[in-house]
Amino acid sequence: MTTQSSITHLGNQISPPRNIINPRLDALPDYPFERLRTLLDPLAAPANLPPIALSLGEPQHPYPDFVGDILHANRHLYGKYPPVAGTPEFRRAVADWLTRRYDLPEGMLDPDRHIAPCAGTREALFRTAFMAVPPEKSGQQPVVLMPNPFYQCYAGAAIAAGAEPVFVPALSENGFLPDFSGLDEDILARTALVYFCTPGNPQGAVADLAYLENLVALSRKYDFTLVVDECYAEIYNGDPPPGTLQVCAAQNDDMSGILVFHSLSKRSNVAGLRSGFVAGDGEMLMLFRRLSEYGGSPSPLPVYAAATALWQDEDHVIANRALYGEKFDLAERILSNRFGFYRPQGGFFLWLDVGDGEAATKELWARAAIRVLPGSYLSADDGIHDNPGRRYIRVAMVHDKAVMEDALARISDTLS
Ligand SMILES: Cc1ncc(COP(=O)(O)O)c(C=O)c1O
Repeated sequence: MTTQSSITHLGNQISPPRNIINPRLDALPDYPFERLRTLLDPLAAPANLPPIALSLGEPQHPYPDFVGDILHANRHLYGKYPPVAGTPEFRRAVADWLTRRYDLPEGMLDPDRHIAPCAGTREALFRTAFMAVPPEKSGQQPVVLMPNPFYQCYAGAAIAAGAEPVFVPALSENGFLPDFSGLDEDILARTALVYFCTPGNPQGAVADLAYLENLVALSRKYDFTLVVDECYAEIYNGDPPPGTLQVCAAQNDDMSGILVFHSLSKRSNVAGLRSGFVAGDGEMLMLFRRLSEYGGSPSPLPVYAAATALWQDEDHVIANRALYGEKFDLAERILSNRFGFYRPQGGFFLWLDVGDGEAATKELWARAAIRVLPGSYLSADDGIHDNPGRRYIRVAMVHDKAVMEDALARISDTLS
């Protein structure tokens, strides 16, 4: 079965002077939020309604008070260059959290070898492509696979690293989980790196252990690096989403070629703290740290101290998850049976089928002062399939309950 598609168009391009620019970057389009500004700036929102931004996945829930206290108590450390490997306390807290959360065997994770911090996962996800994409694979240009729709960083990283991004449809028909193993043999043989996200952004689909096992097996068969972005792992409805390290644990702790990414941005509502980590293949993480030494920007030491305490605390995470649960109850009540509403298994987005996502985005802004993101801005036009996000809008359920209730009612009234 051929389900893959390669890039022909992601959006508007910019045209800097030709002689000083890496031509690869011609394929990088405007980022979705820039495209959204271009779409909505010409339109006026109603003056009598407070604008509500549901376009950006930036949690507005409170974060624990101890974060401020710890940053303040450690403020004398802002004068020090922080180590790229983070602090031993940070690495230990992360290894302990992973072990508890995924029920991993004691000792599977060596904090010094299998954990590397990052200043938010976006830059680290991006940098991974430079580490994982060789000049050639099977004698040809390497391929980087990702779901379609996808977190935009994946495509930017693939393009900047000189690979061909190949978008694998994640549609409602396949439970929003891309069928990587159904790709043509020649594509798989050229694959150097796969980006996969569970729970997924934007649709909230959760891969079960069998799916992750197949993906790990595929990575071993075709010798590619498997990156699993698990940054929404702590926001879920029902059972906790499984993690890829559980698959490794069942295979004699073999983490070769596997990297998982976690972030405090969504788990702990501290997107501005810029703190996450990568865990997995020890050899790759040595290289990852080496690249950090040359060109990385590690988090400040007070941030490592606050992050350590956040990974050690579950109370705020449980409260956070409960708050999202209440807001999805609201959404279910206000939107159910319309716009293809479903309650996502994980993450904090609604992915609503509104027929024409761009038109609905304009209407919501012009008539209801609600800012959402057209699904097509998160998906690639590949010239083969219809853009899989075209019919959708993404709604980030990031505000408190009262604001979300107002916003959901406005969405319902406007689009009905
Ligand atoms: C799927 C996904 N991965 C990674 C990130 C990056 O998060 P951060 O850089 O804050 O860790 C985001 C942020 O929106 C995301 O949606």
